Amino acid sequence: MAAFAHVAIDGPAGSGKTTVARALSRRLGILHLDTGAMYRALALAALELGVPVDDEAAILRLARAKPIGVVLDERSPDGFRIRIGEREVGAELYRNEVSTIVSVVAAYPGVREIMVDRQRAIAREGPVVMAGRDIGTVVMPDAPVKIFLTASLEARVARRLAELAQQGTSVDRVELRAQMEERDHLDIHRAASPLQPAPGSIAIDSTDLSVDDVVDRIAAAADAAVPKR
Ligand code: DC
Repeated sequence: MAAFAHVAIDGPAGSGKTTVARALSRRLGILHLDTGAMYRALALAALELGVPVDDEAAILRLARAKPIGVVLDERSPDGFRIRIGEREVGAELYRNEVSTIVSVVAAYPGVREIMVDRQRAIAREGPVVMAGRDIGTVVMPDAPVKIFLTASLEARVARRLAELAQQGTSVDRVELRAQMEERDHLDIHRAASPLQPAPGSIAIDSTDLSVDDVVDRIAAAADAAVPKR
């Protein structure tokens, strides 16, 4: 695949975007960013500073006062580094308290504008695999490869439970399932950049596929889409 390619991967929580984006970026030898981490960082900052998530104006003030910094760095544990103001954050972004409120923060148009500007600037810097909810529709609509990754709700719940267990957190399956359904609903039905397949995107259902299978399919799509030089 030509080195100038951009790959957009969108899909709901637990569809495997993060893992697939990371593995694909390694396979292609290009950088990657999971944009959900940026929205999570803002949600974490709101939690820590006691800013009520349902106060849109206060969340927007927070987004301006504590800019979310992003550096793509393949040697870092996630493949990118996220900062809230000057402080680097990592595993705490994936705490369950953050997951329960992040969709509210991500639905605010003013917040999205700030994040999308930064994401577009990153895409202009060079080839990147970017994962999120609006990458193919809004952030990189001209990407030669756009993927809409899905999986059954049951498979997504099972993956998230396994991830949380790895972090030493145990949550109730029924509660987690309800939480994921609610997040899906918010992400799909919000007015600003709802989660939907981008025109020209390739749909991949990862329910019964391994990470390698999904990466193989995207790499093949990339090979076919990007003109050889
Ligand atoms: O992929 P994730 O679960 O880490 O995403 C966290 C939240 O951020 C989720 O509610 C959807 C939202 N999000 C978004 O609205 N747009 C993106 N590009 C990425 C994530």
